[in-house]
Amino acid sequence: MKGCVIVMAGALALGAGVAAPHVARAADEPALPHMKWSWQKNFGLGTIDRASAQRGFQVYNEVCSACHSMKYMAYRNLEGIGLTEAQIKAVAATKTVPGAPDDEGKPTTRPALPSDHFADPFPNDNAARAANNGALPPDQSLLLSAREGHADYIYALVGKGYVDAPAGVKVPDGLYYNTYFPGHFIHMPPPLADGSVTYADGTKASVAQEAHDVATFLYFASYPENDQRKHLGVRVAGFLVLLTGVTYAVKRRVWSGIDH
Ligand code: HEC
Repeated sequence: MKGCVIVMAGALALGAGVAAPHVARAADEPALPHMKWSWQKNFGLGTIDRASAQRGFQVYNEVCSACHSMKYMAYRNLEGIGLTEAQIKAVAATKTVPGAPDDEGKPTTRPALPSDHFADPFPNDNAARAANNGALPPDQSLLLSAREGHADYIYALVGKGYVDAPAGVKVPDGLYYNTYFPGHFIHMPPPLADGSVTYADGTKASVAQEAHDVATFLYFASYPENDQRKHLGVRVAGFLVLLTGVTYAVKRRVWSGIDH
């Protein structure tokens, strides 16, 4: 029975996921708004809202990818949020990635394939810095898991954080004021506006909606195994409950004839 409890606890830990290392928030920053994310539902065993993640990919693809790379994501990983093979092929085909050198050894480019990783917006970090006032837009593959607050932080930063600086605060040239960014001065211009994208499913594209959706997509990017892990967790827990019942029945039967 004790072993069973330990295994059960293990299964739950499997379902809840292991905390990732993160950049801590300073004391003078406002508390993050707490959103109810799909994967937090059912005692943390919820799966990712695919419609939202697909809209979030659209936001990444049409807005964020102008500056942010996502080098650990391959186009075929979009299967995990429900894109079909044909859709993935079509998305990849619109991107250009480096190809094999030509006969003279000169670099070439080619349209991306589903197996390619997301195309980089800049050829290298220096070019990325030069285009962004000296700041490097961080790669977004694992960005969410690297920040305290995770999806709540991404949502707050791009969905609510760009406000007028308080009276008396001078924002240096080339920087923007953001309540939720550590230190408040950020090199990223407000990336979202109402209607930045036109959602294929007809959802109204407000800044808050876009921020919510892109945070969902970035959660998927950081935890692509979320849904399988939780389905497995639920199945393992179900199996253990069953096993406990069977063990108990067997125990009663074995001991039934014994006087004690
Ligand atoms: C015009 C270029 C540009 C676009 C477009 C852009 N970003 Fe950024 N982003 C930056 C730069 C530059 C930084 C680094 C900011 C700094 O260190 O001051 C950054 C930083 C970030 C950070 C990290 C903040 C931190 O805690 O360090 C997040 C999160 C982020 N961007 C999310 C997004 C999302 C989501 C989108 C799309 C909706 C987006 N960005 C679009 C340029 C951009």
